[in-house]
Amino acid sequence: MDVDDYTEEGSFTLVLDGCRYRIPAHCPHRAGRLAHGHINQARMTITCPLHHSVFSLESGVQLAGPACGALSVRSQPLSSSDSAGDVPFNHDYAREE
Ligand code: FES
Repeated sequence: MDVDDYTEEGSFTLVLDGCRYRIPAHCPHRAGRLAHGHINQARMTITCPLHHSVFSLESGVQLAGPACGALSVRSQPLSSSDSAGDVPFNHDYAREE
């Protein structure tokens, strides 16, 4: 397997400020593992740990870093019956097969 053939799919869920964000597991630049990224709660951004691209959690737009396009982020407000509503900050892997 060539390094360029490496792909790993999936996403993880981040619960923040009453909203659930589904974030791709890997950065669109060079597949940095975003679960190890830095979350800035004030700016609502995630920073890739590999080359430090910054993405908006709300829109997925790339705000800084090497050009690579947007992150496919999906967000959904938590409902009152959602048990994760009490968790202010949570990484929860939800791999997609
Ligand atoms: S892999 Fe994320 S910025 Fe390069």
